[in-house]
Amino acid sequence: MPLVTSEKVLKKAQAGGYAVGAFNANNLEYVQAIVEAAEEERAPVILQASQGAIKYAGLEMIVAMVRTLAEAATVPVVLHLDHGRSFEQNVKCLRAGFTSLMYDGSKLPYDENAAITRKVVEMAHVVGVPVEAELGQVPDAGKVTMEEVEAFMTDPDEAKKFVEETGLDFLAVAVGSIHGMKSQAAEIDIDRTKKIADLTGVPLVLHGASGVTDEGYKAGIKAGICKINIATELNKAFTRGMHDALAKNPNEIDPRKIAGVGREYVKEAIKAKMRLFGCSGKA
Ligand code: G3H
Ligand code: 13P
Ligand code: ZN
Repeated sequence: MPLVTSEKVLKKAQAGGYAVGAFNANNLEYVQAIVEAAEEERAPVILQASQGAIKYAGLEMIVAMVRTLAEAATVPVVLHLDHGRSFEQNVKCLRAGFTSLMYDGSKLPYDENAAITRKVVEMAHVVGVPVEAELGQVPDAGKVTMEEVEAFMTDPDEAKKFVEETGLDFLAVAVGSIHGMKSQAAEIDIDRTKKIADLTGVPLVLHGASGVTDEGYKAGIKAGICKINIATELNKAFTRGMHDALAKNPNEIDPRKIAGVGREYVKEAIKAKMRLFGCSGKA
């Protein structure tokens, strides 16, 4: 089916008390793994492109790959811009065919973040494409102390104001997760998450979710998380698959037999997350 907007799948998730997985793709094998996993789990899915992925694969190539596989799929697939860095990049992605956008002004002062987010929302809503934005900061692993993680957390009252002032569709919250964690050890502030959900009413997005515990996903979803972003876990799976393939056959020179194992590992990692997030069987 044609690509769908994130509004369609996330409002349903909010009403149904589950979360949709948003998986970062870096190459053809990831895109195939994400769509195949969604098909096999009968799950709606969000495939997202990070700044690194856009630099690596190119915007038009990403859209062409995702559109081709989504159109052949029988489950809803969303193409989302992850951590959009400017108004201009959001316009480019909208024109290229993305069905969901993000403007990340989280490192800017509140007023600047709100003003640019508002501009992106006004632009994207003209053609019915929803926008995610971030308040507070989800930091990168290895670059912060635990005190800083706390200090960067989203303030619930400010979140209410931010949602009202910008008209955004989904709010990325800083509630204890950290981007790029290689093990599931982050503690989520559930009370804060619930407060933000109650005050804003919008579906919340959990970034840096590779580092969140399985209990953290469950409690987070109960508190109002409807979109869960996974990148690092897929990178781990892909490289582990390739390592295993080469360890088994060190003389292998056919890259398809190496990357193909990576693709299988990524697919299995995604299916496991979909079951945890409760979106399996919801397509
Ligand atoms: O939030 C973004 C992800 O952590 C991946 O970023 O693909 O640019 O390294 P990257
Ligand atoms: P991880 O790399 O920690 O899985 O975070 C993904 C993410 O937040 C993408 O926006
Ligand atoms: Zn993120």
